[in-house]
Amino acid sequence: MLNSPVVEAAPEDRPRPRISDPALMVIFGASGDLAQRKLLPALYNLVQKGLLPKDFTIVGYSRTGYSDEEYREFAKVGVKEHADVEFREDDWQQFSQGIFYVSGNYDDPAGFARLKECIAEREQGRHTGHNRLFYLATPPSVYEPVSTQLGQANLVHPADEECWTRLVVEKPFGRDRASAHALNEHLLSIFDEEQVYRIDHYLGKETVQNILVFRFANGILEPIWNRNYVDHVQITVAESIGLERRGGYYDKSGALRDMVQNHMLQLVSLVGMEPPVAFDAKAVRDQKVNLLRSIRPLAPEEVGQYVVRAQYGPGEVNGEHLPSYRDEEGVAPESTTETFVAWKLEIDNWRWNGVPFYLRTGKALPQKVSEIAIYFRRAPHLLFASAEDSKQISRNVLLIRIQPDEGISLKISAKLPGPSVKLQPVNMAFHYGSSFGSTPPDAYQRLLLDVVLGDGTLFTRRDEVEVAWDRVTRVLEGWQMQEEQAQAQGVPLRLPTYEAGTWGPAAAEELLGQEDQNWRKP
Ligand code: BG6
Repeated sequence: MLNSPVVEAAPEDRPRPRISDPALMVIFGASGDLAQRKLLPALYNLVQKGLLPKDFTIVGYSRTGYSDEEYREFAKVGVKEHADVEFREDDWQQFSQGIFYVSGNYDDPAGFARLKECIAEREQGRHTGHNRLFYLATPPSVYEPVSTQLGQANLVHPADEECWTRLVVEKPFGRDRASAHALNEHLLSIFDEEQVYRIDHYLGKETVQNILVFRFANGILEPIWNRNYVDHVQITVAESIGLERRGGYYDKSGALRDMVQNHMLQLVSLVGMEPPVAFDAKAVRDQKVNLLRSIRPLAPEEVGQYVVRAQYGPGEVNGEHLPSYRDEEGVAPESTTETFVAWKLEIDNWRWNGVPFYLRTGKALPQKVSEIAIYFRRAPHLLFASAEDSKQISRNVLLIRIQPDEGISLKISAKLPGPSVKLQPVNMAFHYGSSFGSTPPDAYQRLLLDVVLGDGTLFTRRDEVEVAWDRVTRVLEGWQMQEEQAQAQGVPLRLPTYEAGTWGPAAAEELLGQEDQNWRKP
């Protein structure tokens, strides 16, 4: 765990790069932010790193009336700004020759007929192996029409054909239990489950994947990774930004749907799951689903006791003034959408019974940080417990830093040098940057590559998404009940507020409440 120099693996020990199939990828929502900032730069990186074939082909589809050339210009802006490999004009020229564009509506058979023609032409002219990847980077309201049109235009190869068709679906995948179920039913009437890749970009982060390696490649951890040694777990996904012009989307979503249902429950499942029998898509996802199923479902009247929600009020974050949430562009003046959630989650299984997992996430918090802190029980007998020292004997805390300053550290108590026995907490730490000499690549590179390789391990399966929505929907039902009660009393519900730039409302502190449990200050 201590900082170690970079050790170069011998050439024969290095993992061999996985070789991907040739393919053509259609991006629906091609003129949007996600395509420009994430997808196109990630594809460019992958091609330049030799992980995707040089003639990987991209077809953009959206309503904006671009020509191929105009869309290449749009792509170039994103690649120049966001790709992590150095931008070189001659590489770009070669890459951009593989970018094409079709404009059309998402429910218009004529548009899909043009798309089909374009695909047929490119499959003739370029080496794509007839493999097709459809990426839904659109608002969720058009997931159904786009997939329907793909089916009706006969653009989906059956799962057992030699060449493959895969569909990537962005979040949000539904708004609650019922809509997620309905979306699954619809997609699976056109595609097979193995063809559907539900994306959660947190699973593409190196540090998130490392949770499994850390847990299951280090034999010393398993014996203590349970209720006998762990006191509680804290998972924080904090953001310092406010809405950044996403008010229209966010006000209909809120922190619970936007962050907890997907990213945070994924982190919970990776930290809490039982060891899988193999490191493959089925075995890993089977165990994740089991863990999610063990999360205690809340009854509506219990929600107030286990879940805290709040909205930010005006304040300063990193020296910049933020207005109150209700004054943000695109937010309804009477909005009751939460920008902060804290949830005390109980897991009813043998490993975790009685070990609360505390989750908190929010916008307009003091800093951007995602981390998992495992708090261990104290030493059973305090040998060094003079009144002053006992305060210094803190719990051992294992901290998994997802971002920034990616790494893992363990807080231990040590003797302060000097004639008397005085204790001080210190950290043993591993940092990605210093140990591996680089910062981890963007999540989309890994995820896109896995889709082309046909590896679903880092994507959420149907049952996983539905059970996560089930637990979250129960919270939403509790909130609905609170709103109805407020209405019945004639006092419209107002959420508690927290000042922008602080760590959330006081009620979040009270949620921990037990003696000697406090939120970690990142
Ligand atoms: C997205 C949410 O899924 O994740 C955003 O919709 C949020 O609201 C983002 O800002 C955070 O991702 P990251 O990788 O910056 O932690």
